Amino acid sequence: MRSKYDVLINYFLDIICVAYSPIGAPNRPDFFKEVSHPVLLEDDVIEAIAKKHNATAAQVLLAWGMKRGIPVIPKSVTPSRIDENLKSCNVQLDDEDMAKINGISTRARYLGHQWSIPPGVDIEVFWDGEYLG
Ligand SMILES: NC(=O)c1ccc[n+]([C@@H]2O[C@H](COP(=O)([O-])OP(=O)(O)OC[C@H]3O[C@@H](n4cnc5c(N)ncnc54)[C@H](OP(=O)(O)O)[C@@H]3O)[C@@H](O)[C@H]2O)c1
Repeated sequence: MRSKYDVLINYFLDIICVAYSPIGAPNRPDFFKEVSHPVLLEDDVIEAIAKKHNATAAQVLLAWGMKRGIPVIPKSVTPSRIDENLKSCNVQLDDEDMAKINGISTRARYLGHQWSIPPGVDIEVFWDGEYLG
């Protein structure tokens, strides 16, 4: 199923959408965290695909973004992770991998940012049915 994001990404050709917190912002402040939030780096589907490619979960998440044509800018202060993240460029996901990741049905928005929605505008116009906490 095409999401609102796919529509945005595919139709607004002059705008390049960049992944926001592409590995799931595990460093987000506690006040943004909900017990029910899934942990992207521990997702079963992501971990299985990582194992298949002898890669890490972070590399799969970044490779998925790039394969969709989305620039990804992970943040790390850890040299080994910076190296690991750069090597995600070498992870070649196939169509089956992409379908499996695209098929993950859990929706969660880690960083609410409700303040960015203008008064009187329905948040669902912008968001895609994510659990908002
Ligand atoms: N302008 C804005 O308002 C805004 C808001 C949010 C994000 N951003 C930008 O988006 C980018 C990233 O966002 P983000 O920091 O929210 O989220 P993120 O990149 O999804 O996550 C960063 C966190 O993941 C850890 N990490 C990095 N690589 C990892 C790996 N290979 N394995 C395990 N953990 C790893 C980092 O830890 P260590 O650093 O300890 O290694 C850090 O705690 C940054 O460039 C940021 O500036 C901008």
